[in-house]
Amino acid sequence: MSTPVTLIPGDGIGPEIVANAVRVLEAAGARLDWDHQMAGMAAVEKGLGPLPDETVESILHNRLALKGPLTTPVGRGFRSINVALRKMFDLYANVRPARALIPGGRYPDVDLVVIRENTEGLYVGVEHFIGMEEDPQAAAESVMIVTRFGAKRIARFAFEYAISHGRRKVTLVHKANILKCTQGLFLEVGKQIARDYEGRVEFEDRIVDNTAMQLVVNPYQFDVIVTENMFGDILSDEASGLIGGLGLAPGANIGKDVAIFEAVHGSAPDIAGQGIANPSAVILAGCMLLEHAGQEQVAERTRAALVAALRSDSRTRDLGGAASTRDFAGRIIKELD
Ligand code: NAI
Ligand code: MG
Repeated sequence: MSTPVTLIPGDGIGPEIVANAVRVLEAAGARLDWDHQMAGMAAVEKGLGPLPDETVESILHNRLALKGPLTTPVGRGFRSINVALRKMFDLYANVRPARALIPGGRYPDVDLVVIRENTEGLYVGVEHFIGMEEDPQAAAESVMIVTRFGAKRIARFAFEYAISHGRRKVTLVHKANILKCTQGLFLEVGKQIARDYEGRVEFEDRIVDNTAMQLVVNPYQFDVIVTENMFGDILSDEASGLIGGLGLAPGANIGKDVAIFEAVHGSAPDIAGQGIANPSAVILAGCMLLEHAGQEQVAERTRAALVAALRSDSRTRDLGGAASTRDFAGRIIKELD
């Protein structure tokens, strides 16, 4: 039985890396039935809106999507489609594993996961300017929103993730010493949920600035990090820097009904259309999707072949090699045999 999946090639390098990811996943034996849909600039150029109804319906129907990066116009133009998708499908958990795959890095054995609350915090975008005298923008304020409901479900998600993925520890990262209400609530709820998992998953909490420093000094002390929206945004990029950069960092946006898998990186307009982008992050996102769809063995096989290819003489330019996207994908497929 194959699983239907909405496939969105995306913008910039999206179509190049997604097409090659599909090649690799199919060669590995993935039983996925691709439903091709458009979003972002690609859709706008075809005279549609940035998030066509047909695409939304496809995701609602299939409940699973693999998506390339989408360009967000800066300043003017439509708002981020990535944010719109997270809101529309209530994709409250952003799961970003950081696992070192290539030897020779500073931390060859890093294997941690950042779980970021994806719907609350400062990123709700409740902000405005305050005018004073002549200056209409004399001050500005943004509101950080944390709800018991939101804090509970992300903490529970992190513990359930730890159990289902054989992880030993959850570290809740916060700034409750300064932000006593919002961050205090996030921490209090996390501690309550942790009690339900006592004896099964270790729990600790840490202040965010200290965590940022500890990640650089000794990342091995971390296993699963759970944190609010903005801290998770920052710490997950930091974590991807520990393992060789954005070209290797996958992510999943997970809600109750729908899950959307993608690379952490964007559409890389500086190298789009040249056929040199690294497809690894999208392939790893595809592996996360396979696990979600119950095809763990195919995911494991794909990941092993990707690791073998990364350790070969064939690498893309971002990792110091000279291989094209297509040739690197070809190398992975060869390693599958
Ligand atoms: P970016 O991640 O696209 O690029 C940052 C740097 O990393 C560039 O030098 C790029 O060439 C390089 N890079 C990224 N992915 C790569 C890959 N697979 N292989 C080799 N090199 C790679 O970030 P940037 O430039 O800030 O954003 C570009 C556009 O992407 C913006 O419109 C932004 O809004 C959008 N974006 C979309 C995301 C999504 O769809 N989830 C996430 C982040 C950004
Ligand atoms: Mg970010």
